[in-house]
Amino acid sequence: MLFAALLVLGSATVDAATVWDGSRFAWYNTDAGDDFKSALPIGNGRLGAAVFGTPTEKLVLNENSVWSGGFLDRANSRSKDAVPKIRQMLIAGDITGAGQSAMDNMAANPTSPRAYNPLVNMGIDLGHDSGIGSYTRWLDTLEGTAGVNYLQGGTNYSREYVASYPHGVLAVRLTASAPGKLNAKISLSRSKWVTSQTAKTDSGAGGHRVTLSGNSGSDALAFWSEARVVNSGGSATSPDGKSISISGANTVDIFFDAETSYRYADAAAAQAELKRKLDAATAAGYPAVRSAAIDDFSGLMSRVKLDLGSSGDTGRQPVTTRLQNFKNNPNADPQLMTLMFNFGRHLLASSSRDTGPRSLPANLQGLWNQDYDPAWQSKYTININLEMNYWPALVTNLAETQKPVFDLLNEAIPRGKAVAKTMYGCNDGFVLHHNTDLWGDAAPVDKGTPYTIWPMGAAWLSADAMEHYRFTQNKTFLSTTAWPILRDAARFFHCHLFEWNGHWTAGPSLSPEHAFTVPQGQGLSQPGRSEGLDISIEMDNQLLHQLFTNIAQACTLLSLPSTNPDCAAATKYLPTLRAPSINPTTTRLQEWRSPSYADTEPGHRHFSPLWGLYPGSILTPTPSNNATLANAAGALLDHRMASGSGSTGWSRAWAVALYARLGRGKDAWGHAQELVKRFPSPNLWNSDNGRGTPFQIDGNFGVVGGMAEIWVQSHEVSGQGEVVVHLLPGGPGGVAKGSVEGLVARGGVVVRRLAWEGGRLVEGVLEARVDGVVRVLFDTKNASTVVSLLRKR
Ligand SMILES: *[C@@H]1O[C@H](CO)[C@@H](O)[C@H](O)[C@H]1NC(C)=O
Ligand SMILES: *[C@@H]1O[C@H](CO)[C@@H](O)[C@H](O)[C@H]1NC(C)=O
Ligand SMILES: *[C@@H]1O[C@H](CO)[C@@H](O)[C@H](O)[C@H]1NC(C)=O
Ligand SMILES: *[C@@H]1O[C@H](CO)[C@@H](O)[C@H](O)[C@H]1NC(C)=O
Repeated sequence: MLFAALLVLGSATVDAATVWDGSRFAWYNTDAGDDFKSALPIGNGRLGAAVFGTPTEKLVLNENSVWSGGFLDRANSRSKDAVPKIRQMLIAGDITGAGQSAMDNMAANPTSPRAYNPLVNMGIDLGHDSGIGSYTRWLDTLEGTAGVNYLQGGTNYSREYVASYPHGVLAVRLTASAPGKLNAKISLSRSKWVTSQTAKTDSGAGGHRVTLSGNSGSDALAFWSEARVVNSGGSATSPDGKSISISGANTVDIFFDAETSYRYADAAAAQAELKRKLDAATAAGYPAVRSAAIDDFSGLMSRVKLDLGSSGDTGRQPVTTRLQNFKNNPNADPQLMTLMFNFGRHLLASSSRDTGPRSLPANLQGLWNQDYDPAWQSKYTININLEMNYWPALVTNLAETQKPVFDLLNEAIPRGKAVAKTMYGCNDGFVLHHNTDLWGDAAPVDKGTPYTIWPMGAAWLSADAMEHYRFTQNKTFLSTTAWPILRDAARFFHCHLFEWNGHWTAGPSLSPEHAFTVPQGQGLSQPGRSEGLDISIEMDNQLLHQLFTNIAQACTLLSLPSTNPDCAAATKYLPTLRAPSINPTTTRLQEWRSPSYADTEPGHRHFSPLWGLYPGSILTPTPSNNATLANAAGALLDHRMASGSGSTGWSRAWAVALYARLGRGKDAWGHAQELVKRFPSPNLWNSDNGRGTPFQIDGNFGVVGGMAEIWVQSHEVSGQGEVVVHLLPGGPGGVAKGSVEGLVARGGVVVRRLAWEGGRLVEGVLEARVDGVVRVLFDTKNASTVVSLLRKR
């Protein structure tokens, strides 16, 4: 067991607790009106609630398997014969003809998979339409709860909202400062496809019942939802048979669950599970449900503690005021950065948990959605967004939140095998394109040459499985979960890759969502046109390098013989892949096959050719890598940013991680602050365009992963094969004094505590979860400091 490096040269002070700890609470003195992006999100990994806090409370409730329908077989059978021809056209330089043929013969029908849909809204009418004062609404990122307090008619009313992972339900408690003061009408509603709606009073302990059942427009996806209402004092009626009205109560507790046909064999099984959960929750009662939920949630959240110093009174203001002030004076509210960090982890723990078989990962909106046609269908977009959702998972000590990603991959493998066969004529392995849905849809999505034909989705997503192993060192996971995913992802490429200029190459493919201008005078047809489709894309080569590297490492770790065909194939392909190229004219890393292809958007939001800088690592400026390449990667990043990239929240978050990997901590920090200046909605959700729409959760997650890279990196492997844990690789960024506890590094290392002062590391405490040796690197730019710190061991 390794226990390394205890370096104590000083210690950080801890903030005095305040009423509204500005690092922990997002609070408001107004309700959300009808703005979804002001509502406060809680969730138990399967059920979500967005709390509006309006006089008649509105809760937008979600269940993560409520989508717009059943599996759609969208594969285009013309594709199989077209692929070799399209490939030949690309090799021969008919880029435009190839793109047109791909759209005609490879785009799927319909072009989009299923959309994520809302579940139901809950209304709680307290009869408080006027006379409300001293209003507060809050979200507690440590406990995962939300609430509302106000005075009305001399009585102090409060509402508290809890999402319980242990009980699998949502729970609400309404209270008043004086007895018998609570009147509440509780109802469920939905604007589409309601199949039944009932309400029934029941004076037993199981509570009064409000139910709403519905589907996706057909029985392909059906759901059953129910609220149990338990009042202490007062009486209950159901005048309309659809809602429960409580009058004169002391407290009102509500327990809510929904189950869908996605996870159960039939309606009876889903309804039995609904009943089981609600019976258990009502039997336990609100205080027990609440405390179990908070124990569970704060157990996850408290694994990491970030302290960037106090903002004083600035940090105690409502979030909307803080966001305004931050635009002009970001350094005055370091606690808002801490809150963004905590909020990102709150969202991940709320939207992605192991909820049993067929758990589902966080989609483009996590699991909070009120629209039947949300932006980009709120799908799983896998050419960056779903992967970014999980950037905080491993490094901020929430590894279990990744389980739904692997469940979805297991859903996708048979779908992707079918599409590999039908569309590519590949009889082994699975392919994914740039989006998938809850059914693991694997066919191409939408219809455009810069995004549709991208057969690399499984190559990227499968890398998450290997990273899960690297951080957790869980060999059982490696052999039972990661290996089959990696193996089946690679097998598709054994069939799909072809030799071009001496390199094994993928194509037709593209550099996600970016286009190039076909150059003049190179024998290519239709020069000057903007095109997306090609072969030998830089990002593809990097993804393939990562995939075969992961296979080769897994083969060693699992002691598979070198004659194992999957291991042998990885060994065969690895040395033949095209290495990253540098454009000789610009000296920037090259995105496409040829240096003469010009960017149509030099400030494009995707950093696809920099994949190998982050989340990959072949472009990083470490001693074992190629400095020329790292410089070229840095030059491309600077050029992209100078040309306007970072234009969406998620793009800005990626820039944070990329600069951190270049060892440019100050730049990374500056972009993290810029993200908080430009992209948060009033409830801190990331928006895509900086004007509040559309809500897209990836930026919330990506910036947390990016910030963590400023403090701890562990992607490098030493010449002796040891994981290198690098503390403050580029300095701590813009906060001179701070500390972070509980980050995780590869090799199964917990960075128990990391503290810095005056921009320098003062304390580093590491703990090993498994036996092994890691190398710890810190402050390499100042050798004298390294020596003096080492003496303190
Ligand atoms: C109302 O009660 C809550 C506790 O339930 C308290 O936190 C809040 O300060 C009270 N509000 C007022 C205006 O008295
Ligand atoms: C290791 O992985 C297996 C398979 O995914 C899982 O069942 C087990 O709980 C993991 N062990 C730990 C300690 O997390
Ligand atoms: C670094 O990468 C560049 C570009 O691929 C290559 O030309 C050069 O030979 C590499 N240098 C080393 C030392 O590997
Ligand atoms: C190195 O550390 C010493 C002692 O803390 C300090 O005086 C010096 O300025 C540092 N040098 C650099 C280049 O950071």
